[in-house]
Amino acid sequence: MRLDVYKIKGGRKLKGEVKISGAKNAALPIIVGSLLAEGKTILSNVPDLKDIRTILQVIEHLGAKTKFISSKNILEIEVRSIKNNQVPYDLVKTMRASIYVMGPLLAKVGEVDVSLPGGCAIGERPIDMHLNGFKKMGAKINLQHGYVKAKAKCLFGTTITMKKISVGTTANLMLAAVLAKGKTVLENAALEPDIIDLGHFLIKMGANITGLGTETIEIIGVKKLNPTKHRIIPDRIEAGTFLLAGAITRGDLKITKIIPEHLRALISILIEIGFFLDEGRNWVQIRPAKNLVGTIIKTKPYPGFPTDLQAPIMAFLITIPRVNVIIETIFENRFTHVAELRRMGADIIIEDRVAIIRGIKKLSSAPVMMPDLRAGAALIIAALGAKGETEIRRIYHADRGYENLVEKLSKLGAKIKREPEGQN
Ligand code: EPZ
Repeated sequence: MRLDVYKIKGGRKLKGEVKISGAKNAALPIIVGSLLAEGKTILSNVPDLKDIRTILQVIEHLGAKTKFISSKNILEIEVRSIKNNQVPYDLVKTMRASIYVMGPLLAKVGEVDVSLPGGCAIGERPIDMHLNGFKKMGAKINLQHGYVKAKAKCLFGTTITMKKISVGTTANLMLAAVLAKGKTVLENAALEPDIIDLGHFLIKMGANITGLGTETIEIIGVKKLNPTKHRIIPDRIEAGTFLLAGAITRGDLKITKIIPEHLRALISILIEIGFFLDEGRNWVQIRPAKNLVGTIIKTKPYPGFPTDLQAPIMAFLITIPRVNVIIETIFENRFTHVAELRRMGADIIIEDRVAIIRGIKKLSSAPVMMPDLRAGAALIIAALGAKGETEIRRIYHADRGYENLVEKLSKLGAKIKREPEGQN
C-alpha cells in the first residue's frame, strides 16, 4: 500500500471562504437505513470519504447496488432483496459503524451475523448497549468466534432506557424499531444532529417517529418503508475543524453551507476566548482577536462540547499563552494526540481524563503521525500554526473524515502538499 504524508508549512493566516461537506456521521446510518426499503433511495450532500466507501462495500456485500456520483456528492442505492446477512471482519475492522447493519437486518430478515468490532485507538468502545436493546426487543444473541449472531422472528416494541447517552445505540435501535411490532420508547436517547437527520430520513420513508431532539424518542413500528430522497446535513465536526484552523492562524475565515446552531458550543467558547465571530443563516465567520484568555472545556454529548473536537481544540489552545484545561468525559483514551503535540513543543500534563495545557506563543514543526481521525485533525491544525514545515504521517486516518482537505486548505492560503512518504 502506498502511504502518503502531508507536508505543511505553517504560520500563514488562513483567509477566505470554505464550503463544508455533508456529515459523515449522519450519512453512515442513513446509508445503512436505505436497506429497510425496496427500491431506489437517492441521497445528496454525501461526502466522498474513506468511511463512506467502506459502508458502501458493506451494503453491497448485503445485496444493495450503489452508484456514487462523487463529483456531485449524489449517492443512489438500489435495494431489491437482502442476499446476505453476514458482515465479515475485514469490513468491520476498518470501521465500527458497520455495526449499524444489525438494526435493519434484524428488523427486515430476522437474522444477522456481524463481526465484533473490538477496541480502537480512542478506547474500548463496547457494544453492550446495542445488544441489550436488541435483546429487549426480543432478539436472541450469541457471541461466537468473534461474531455477534442475532436472531429474531419478530422484533417487539418496548421501553429501552440507555444507561449512557450513546449516538450509535440510539441510531441502531431506531433502525430496528421502525419495522418492529408496536411502540418502542428510547429513553436517555442521543440528541446529536446526526440522530435527528437519521430520524427525518426514516420519517420520509414512512416511519412513525416522534420526540427527535429530545431525550425520549417514540417509534411506532410500521409494516413497510418506502425508498426516498434525502439531503445529508452539513458536517459540524469538519466545520469546527476549519474554525479552529482559522483560530490558530489568527486568520479571517468564513465557513459556509453549515447550520451554525450545530456549532453553538464551539462558537461560544471561541467568543469567550476573545475571537470575533459573526454568523448568518448558513455561515459563521471568525476574525482575529487580541487579548485571548484561557478556558476550561468539558466534552459532553450534544449540545455540549463534542468529543470529536477535543483534540482539534487542544492543538489551538496550545497557542494561547494562558493555562487551559480540557476534561474528556466520553472516551477513556482520547488523548493520543498529546504525545505528538509535545513533539511540536506543547506543554501538556495529563491526569487521567484531564489535560492541563500551558500555552506557548508558537509550536515548532516536527515529524509526527496521526493516531486516529480527530487526533489527526489536531496535528493538521497544529502544523498550520507552527513555525517551519511539519511532515504528518499516517494521513489515511484523515481520509476517513475530511473531504478534499488539501484543496480546501490551499484555497484558504495554506501551504499544504500531499506526497508519497519518503519523497523530498
Ligand atoms: C459516535 O460514535 C461517532 N461515530 C464518534 O465519532 C463520536 O466520537 C461518538 O459518537 C461520540 O459523539 C459515529 O457516529 C460513526 P457513542 P459511537 O455510542 O456511536 C459508551 C469520529 O471521529 N458506549 O455515542 O460509537 C462509549 O464507550 C467518531 O467521527 C457503551 O458503553 O459513540 C462511550 O463512552 C469517533 N456501550 C459512550 O457510550 C455501548 O454499547 C458514547 O459513545 C455503546 C457506547
